[in-house]
Amino acid sequence: MLKLENIKKTYRTKEINYFVLKGISFNVKKGEFVSIMGPSGSGKTTLLNIISGFIPADEGKVLLGDKDLLKANKDLLAELRQSEMGFVFQDFMLIDALTTSENIMLPQIIINKKKEEIAEKTNYLIKMLGIEDIADKYPNEISGGQKQRIAIARALANNPKIILADEPTGNLDSKSAQSVLEAFFIIRKEIRATIVMVTHDAVSASYSDRIIALKDGKVVEELQKKDNQRNYLDQIFSFLGKVNGVSNELK
Ligand SMILES: Nc1ncnc2c1ncn2[C@@H]1O[C@H](COP(=O)(O)OP(=O)(O)O)[C@@H](O)[C@H]1O
Ligand SMILES: [Mg+2]
Repeated sequence: MLKLENIKKTYRTKEINYFVLKGISFNVKKGEFVSIMGPSGSGKTTLLNIISGFIPADEGKVLLGDKDLLKANKDLLAELRQSEMGFVFQDFMLIDALTTSENIMLPQIIINKKKEEIAEKTNYLIKMLGIEDIADKYPNEISGGQKQRIAIARALANNPKIILADEPTGNLDSKSAQSVLEAFFIIRKEIRATIVMVTHDAVSASYSDRIIALKDGKVVEELQKKDNQRNYLDQIFSFLGKVNGVSNELK
């Protein structure tokens, strides 16, 4: 589904070249829910933006299905972003002047879907994510967790191959965060959505099938969920201890 090969990225400023990604490779299978973890500044957002086609890598390959994103021109990239990717951001990015339903309709209107199809899909997503009671409300009338569930519904509106989420629970209290993570769980189960989520939160990561840890621009560890969520969470904590190097802090 998604294949990254030896992704490299350097940010160049006048004073300094900052080598953020030093050769990242991994695969994500269809229907898999993968978390990318790593300390702040480790390049998680940069990596997600490269997968999204928002910024180009300097080297390497990003294959989404059979399409090589680094070889795609602007028009193809824009089309791929509209039809094959769904985005969920930390700060929701809903349109304040539109209701819940309208926010979910918007990406479908942009690709000229038929009215009836739009209505059907929107209702289906609203039901699946349990947001019927806020369907006609505006973003400023609802909670952060609800906003993020709308953003997830919107991300699914055009049947993307993959959902890309950058710290989707980063602005939420733990209870709202849980409702958002449960929404990811639902979409994975109901429609086998493929999800790549960046997070630095262990509890959020415990909802995913596999964790890829970045450090100093490289993939340093992977952890596959084998156990129930509670035990997985314990494994994540010791995994992160190893990755972030408790030993480093003591040096
Ligand atoms: N546009 C940019 N120009 C220069 N440096 C950047 C730019 N974007 C990010 N960086 C730097 O690259 C590093 C990685 O950033 P980022 O990918 O946002 O990390 P993370 O999401 O893991 O916190 C940080 O040190 C950040 O300051
Ligand atoms: Mg980030």
